[in-house]
Amino acid sequence: MKTIKTISEMQDCRKTLAEPVGFVPTMGYLHGGHISLVRKAREENVSVVVSIFVNPKQFGPNEDFEKYPRDLQGDLEILEEEGVDAVFAPEAAEIYPQDFNSRVEVLGITQKLEGNCRPGHFRGVTTVVNKLFNIVRPQRAYFGQKDAQQVIVIQKMVKDLNMNLEVITCPTIREEDGLAMSSRNIYMNPEERQSAIVLYRSLMLAQDMYQRGERDTGAIRKEMVRLIKTEELARIDYVSVADPATLDELDMITGKALVSLAVKFGKTRLIDNVVLG
Ligand code: PAF
Repeated sequence: MKTIKTISEMQDCRKTLAEPVGFVPTMGYLHGGHISLVRKAREENVSVVVSIFVNPKQFGPNEDFEKYPRDLQGDLEILEEEGVDAVFAPEAAEIYPQDFNSRVEVLGITQKLEGNCRPGHFRGVTTVVNKLFNIVRPQRAYFGQKDAQQVIVIQKMVKDLNMNLEVITCPTIREEDGLAMSSRNIYMNPEERQSAIVLYRSLMLAQDMYQRGERDTGAIRKEMVRLIKTEELARIDYVSVADPATLDELDMITGKALVSLAVKFGKTRLIDNVVLG
């Protein structure tokens, strides 16, 4: 497995990789969710490239860029074990040199949900993912359903800009008690970690209501909020039942619906979702 720090080395390495190339962009501190993406990429492609880059442009000024967990050595050991061909792990100055002055932005859907709570976040994501796609030139790129809006935004960018690759969404990987795996889970103390199980329970409640025939999203949201609020430590940013294509809030569910939420436990902000229908 090659560990690569510069764009030119990555581009040279890419020329030697047998195609198709599967690509898993990450911010490192790898967990079961990332590993499932790498395994899917390994299954479906001849070569696999993983990037590890904590992208400063997708963090707001008061967010956790500085304290975002990092463990490059541990990540490399995991990826070696998974049979990855190349890991691209550049420094910020390599990706954003001093004269860097461009951005890539999907409009509309990026203003809702996460975009509404984290202004500029998706512009940072699409800018870096666009650069990574240009550098790695994969045939397929793999993202987790846990960041549902991120995948929708990236799919829109790929379609709108006629980018020549397939975006593949892989299921959310959960801890035994249902908490979605996330690099940020380690921020929580034991009480917060215990309380956070309510997120999965509230999503399962929504699914259960839907399966029993409920289509009124007001009723579903209300029950989810009520359940989440039974946990004293939970602070809700949003609970949404939206159209998965436009991310507009739905009144009634007639087709598919993306039920998503963002909730803080202390300083840790978690997101999760489930698709109904
Ligand atoms: O999902 C992530 O880890 C990041 O948003 C991504 C896609 C690697 C871009 O920095």
